[in-house]
Amino acid sequence: MKITIGSDHAATALKDEVKKVLAEFDAEIKDVGTFGTESVDYPDIAEKVCADVVSGESERGIVICGTGIGISIAANKINGIRCALCGDVYSAKMCRAHNNANVLAMGGRVIGSGLAGEIVRAWLTTEFAGERHERRINKITALEQKNS
Ligand code: RB5
Repeated sequence: MKITIGSDHAATALKDEVKKVLAEFDAEIKDVGTFGTESVDYPDIAEKVCADVVSGESERGIVICGTGIGISIAANKINGIRCALCGDVYSAKMCRAHNNANVLAMGGRVIGSGLAGEIVRAWLTTEFAGERHERRINKITALEQKNS
């Protein structure tokens, strides 16, 4: 699986920790930045990560900012993206099983690297449950089309 990851300046440290966790999996990792602490705008990072997911270059994306809120809002503006902001393992499992979340968001100023690692492991190893949830995902897609 190929995964594109990106963060703003508030979360580069957590991004580096998450990349170590991704290395446990048979995953190709593309890091679109940012690198360092110079201030950048999280919508630009969301756009880069999500472009790879929408194009199919990557199967999944991970976006991280200070709270995870701004970057998840930005990601969810992009058609085809179902981005879930997770701060616990249960949500990480459920956003895969019920929502088929193709992008995971986290807050680098909210959670520590240990919890982030558990969230990423749960998110990568939980499959979409399909069935009734497929119908609901299709309705989300229809909402996107209605509003674009
Ligand atoms: C950057 O200071 C901060 O606003 C950003 O990382 C994020 O928390 C926004 O939602």
